[in-house]
Amino acid sequence: MQTELLRQDQSRSPQERPRPQRSRTDCPILLSPRLVLRTPHEDDIDALAHLANNANIATMVSRMPHPYTVADAADFVRRTKTGTIGKCVYAITKADNGAFLGCCGIEPHPDGRTAELGYWLGEPYWNEGYATEAAQALTDMAFRTRDIDQIDARCRVMNVASRRVIQKCGFQYQGSGMVESQALGGMMAVEWYRLDRKTWMSLRSWGGRR
Ligand SMILES: CC(C)(COP(=O)(O)OP(=O)(O)OC[C@H]1O[C@@H](n2cnc3c(N)ncnc32)[C@H](O)[C@@H]1OP(=O)(O)O)[C@@H](O)C(=O)NCCC(=O)NCCS
Repeated sequence: MQTELLRQDQSRSPQERPRPQRSRTDCPILLSPRLVLRTPHEDDIDALAHLANNANIATMVSRMPHPYTVADAADFVRRTKTGTIGKCVYAITKADNGAFLGCCGIEPHPDGRTAELGYWLGEPYWNEGYATEAAQALTDMAFRTRDIDQIDARCRVMNVASRRVIQKCGFQYQGSGMVESQALGGMMAVEWYRLDRKTWMSLRSWGGRR
């Protein structure tokens, strides 16, 4: 059977041969005490469209349209699969019942030494520690599996909750700047934070980051 499959595969041109899914190889499924972080898929579209259609979320992130439609959600899922929206995008889901809570991702910078962390959660799930748990799982994965020196995170200056998440993960303030916001249709003032590998290793060995 295996030999037959191998023979069929080798009869195809290299372009036709099935390729391993990028997300499976580069972005392993991540487990934390209460969460499963996995590739977004079609079953998430309704929940994604419902939760993401919220100005309180869209105006805090750089690349989310508002209003957010089912078509936007379907397009997002499609583009995460093809890798055009980001190299490592995850659906944040509850480990106990599989509920879709939001999204997070980690994106390499062109410098090859830095990655950028981003996340959002549906408003019904705020203030239960989920974003911190997801961000910690992502930073751990990134430092363990990638040859990077640091992870950056940016939040709007008025975004108290996100700043707190970033600080609970051990990131340190670097400066401020402006980034474009799709939902605002203009620039927004942000704070820039960074977690370097050495600090991450110290925090890991201290056994907790809260
Ligand atoms: C930012 C966001 C992801 C946080 O998610 P979350 O799961 O609620 O975060 P956590 O529960 O892990 O931590 C939130 C922290 O902020 C604190 N917080 C929340 N709102 C606050 C407020 N108005 N004032 C002070 N502290 C606040 C919480 O008390 C908690 O801190 P604590 O654990 O010390 O009590 C969520 O609010 C969100 O999706 N917002 C919109 C999108 C967004 O801002 N994304 C980030 C872009 S940089």
